[in-house]
Formats: sequence, C-alpha cells, structure tokens
Amino acid sequence: MVRFSPLVLVFLLLVISSSYEAKVVEVNVICKQTRNPSFCSSLLNSKPGGADLVSLAQYTIDVVHSNVTNTITLIKSLIAQSANDSKASAHYKQCLEFFSSDEGALSSVEDTEERLKAGDYDGVNLGAAAVSTYVDDCVSGEGPSDPPYPDRSLLPKYADVIDQVVQIILIISNLLLHN
Ligand SMILES: *[C@@H]1O[C@H](CO)[C@@H](O)[C@H](O)[C@H]1NC(C)=O
Ligand SMILES: *[C@@H]1O[C@H](CO)[C@@H](O)[C@H](O)[C@H]1NC(C)=O
Repeated sequence: MVRFSPLVLVFLLLVISSSYEAKVVEVNVICKQTRNPSFCSSLLNSKPGGADLVSLAQYTIDVVHSNVTNTITLIKSLIAQSANDSKASAHYKQCLEFFSSDEGALSSVEDTEERLKAGDYDGVNLGAAAVSTYVDDCVSGEGPSDPPYPDRSLLPKYADVIDQVVQIILIISNLLLHN
C-alpha cells in the first residue's frame, strides 16, 4: 500500500483543487466592455447562485433563448396583423426565417448551448455571433439590395435587447478562451 506523508497529501489536495477551480471574474470586468454597462450589470447581477464564467455563459444563453422565442411569437403576430400590407408582410415573413429553428437565430442559440456543454468556447463565440448576424439581417436587411424596412413595431427593440445579451456572451466566451 502506498503511504503519503501528510505534507504530500496537502500538496496533492492543493493541486487538485486549483485545477477544479472555477473561473470567476467580477461582473464589472465583463460589463465595462459592453455598449450598455448598466443593462449588462443588472442582467448579470440578477442571476441567482454563483457567478463563475461558465454559469454566467449558461445564464445569458438561456436569456437569449427565451428572448429569441418571445421574438418569434411577436413576429408571428405581426405577420397576422399585416395581412393587408404586402411590404410589412414580406418583411416579417423574412424575419421569421432569420429567427427560425431551421437555419436562423433559434438554431444558432441551440447550437451555442451544445457548444457550451461540450466546453467548446470557440464554438460558443461563433454561435453567438451567428445569432447576432441573423437578428441584424432581419432588422437592417441583408445588404444594399435589401434596404431596412421602417419598422415601428416592437421588433427592433426586441432585436436590440438580443444584440446586447449576445454581446455579453461574446465577452464571456472570450474570457473563457483566454483566461
Ligand atoms: C429578454 O430577457 C430579459 C432578461 O430576462 C428580459 O428582461 C426581457 O424582457 C426579455 N425580452 C424579451 C423580448 O423577451
Ligand atoms: C384586411 O382587409 C380585409 C378586407 O378589407 C378586412 O376584412 C380584414 O379585417 C383586414 N385584415 C387586417 C389584419 O387588417
């Protein structure tokens, strides 16, 4: 039987506990990098429980998931209301595709969740960036041939919240990659 001296045991315990130590950062370190630090800190501080980077990533991805789901519900009701306005109708139908679970924001959110579970923080970063691209394509159009629709509904506001939460996920995943 192998016997460790108490000193060796203490040393081993220290090595083991430091390798399991969660990556913790101050909320402020994340939020000062965002466009809207007060939005960011009130969101992150509203998270119950611990505040290590992985659980903050999980939390913010959950928030984006529910925001995207709520936005899809909004878009569906806007499509129903714009039956007699072909321009509006075309815009909201296009947005529904950009938000969809086939190849849109919702599918990218689900992908981001999978990547986080796998510990693939690069994938988290790419997935979150894709969410933002889809959302921006809905609001701003895809390019010069697809000018922005002058949307007075709540949709641009919902999209702005999603962009802000996605920005937080991007910062957290960068911290996870480089810490
Ligand atoms: C998005 O999530 C935030 C945080 O949970 C919430 O305050 C906000 O109302 C949500 N917005 C939508 C459109 O779901
Ligand atoms: C569309 O127009 C029809 C016929 O004018 C009308 O009955 C219907 O209520 C309108 N629908 C909406 C969503 O405005």
